[in-house]
Amino acid sequence: MATTPPPQTYRVKSFGCQMNVYDGERMAELLGAQGIRPAAEGEDADLVVLNTCHIREKAAEKVYSDIGRLRRDDGSSPLIAVAGCVAQAEGEEIMARAPAVKMVVGPQAYHRLPAMIEQATLGKRAVDTDMPAETKFGALPARRKVGPTAFLTVQEGCDKFCTYCVVPYTRGAEISRPFNDLVAEAHKLVEAGAREITLLGQNVNAWRDDSNRGLEKLIETLSEIPELARIRYTTSHPNDMTDGLIAAHGDLPKLMPFLHLPVQAGNDRVLKAMNRSHTADSYLRVLDRVRAVRPDIALSGDFIVGFPGETDAEFEDTLRLVDAVGYAQCFSFKYSPRPGTPAATMDGQIASEVMDERLQRLQAALNRDQLAFNQRSVGQRCTVLVERKGKYPGQWLGKSPWLQSVHFTGEAEIGALVEVELVEAGPNSLAGRLLA
Ligand code: 5AD
Ligand code: SF4
Repeated sequence: MATTPPPQTYRVKSFGCQMNVYDGERMAELLGAQGIRPAAEGEDADLVVLNTCHIREKAAEKVYSDIGRLRRDDGSSPLIAVAGCVAQAEGEEIMARAPAVKMVVGPQAYHRLPAMIEQATLGKRAVDTDMPAETKFGALPARRKVGPTAFLTVQEGCDKFCTYCVVPYTRGAEISRPFNDLVAEAHKLVEAGAREITLLGQNVNAWRDDSNRGLEKLIETLSEIPELARIRYTTSHPNDMTDGLIAAHGDLPKLMPFLHLPVQAGNDRVLKAMNRSHTADSYLRVLDRVRAVRPDIALSGDFIVGFPGETDAEFEDTLRLVDAVGYAQCFSFKYSPRPGTPAATMDGQIASEVMDERLQRLQAALNRDQLAFNQRSVGQRCTVLVERKGKYPGQWLGKSPWLQSVHFTGEAEIGALVEVELVEAGPNSLAGRLLA
């Protein structure tokens, strides 16, 4: 068996959701703790981790072409690890199809990467798609330096089994991380420079601890960290919007006025076939309750067009729901059959052109509402958390409380919270004027 010298440099490429971005950061920290350093821009890395996403499209095919592209001119390849949800779903299949891949590691097992790397240098290939009962988090090193905005995974997995979705299979059952671990990790993030923390979970608002405390209790406790200015959370399920969490939007000033609450469709028959266990109306009632305590809340959602069997008239109900809500921003997708999910084998699969046409109409409505939301913000004064330098000298980019991108010029620095007046709105960003 061919041996390889231990890797000196790594590169982690993350695809897909914020949870994957978080996992990618944690894997980078784990590799850093082994004395492996990040490869510089343009430098050939000894170890490449492809942190994959399986939620839509031909994700697996994309992984194989990415692997092919890693081959060097002399025919050799770096040590390649495939991580994330494609790793979980495809496992051994990847090993069989891509000899260059030495490690396949699922989202619940990546704390075992160092041991797998050691094996790989000895020429052994390993697949680890276990979902161990003891969670990986305890086995990961402490957080290193972070930017002004940081992610904190509080919950993983999903028990909802929406009929189109692969997550319950790739990420497993819902687990909540312990309260004290999360508070400790939040303190570490703030010490490392974070001013804003986004709590992450596939079903983040299903988070509960052993004493049955809900997410609002965690947010309340994190609010007490003085240097932490902002808290957000994503992604939520409508059925887990409890009274306590809704009340928190009115009671906790550090909880930003933004809610990402996917609905997927506006027609009750389609929602039932999706196994969403809410109706269009019950969803709208949840939003009413949030608006009652936080009238300026910016709303966001996810939509799928062309779920099997969706008729034109049923799709029109989605447009009606969009009109009723007035979203600040949204994600919308063409339905994509995921192997192993119930919807993939349902009758009435919709032609791609029909989905294209529906998606265009939906996105036109969503873009219209996003611009209108931004335009309504003009004239408002708000705080912007500065995230990075802009394209032009003296220009800065940051986020408003409503998660809008805001650019402005003047004296500032990354991580500062500055007061601006919003003076001009575009579809994707706003111009601000720095207030003294
Ligand atoms: N096809 C299209 N979109 C999907 N999503 C999840 N599964 C699928 C699928 N099979 C979308 C949903 C979800 C978001 C993360 O991705 O809208 O909320
Ligand atoms: Fe997938 Fe539904 Fe769970 Fe969201 S709630 S992760 S869409 S199964």
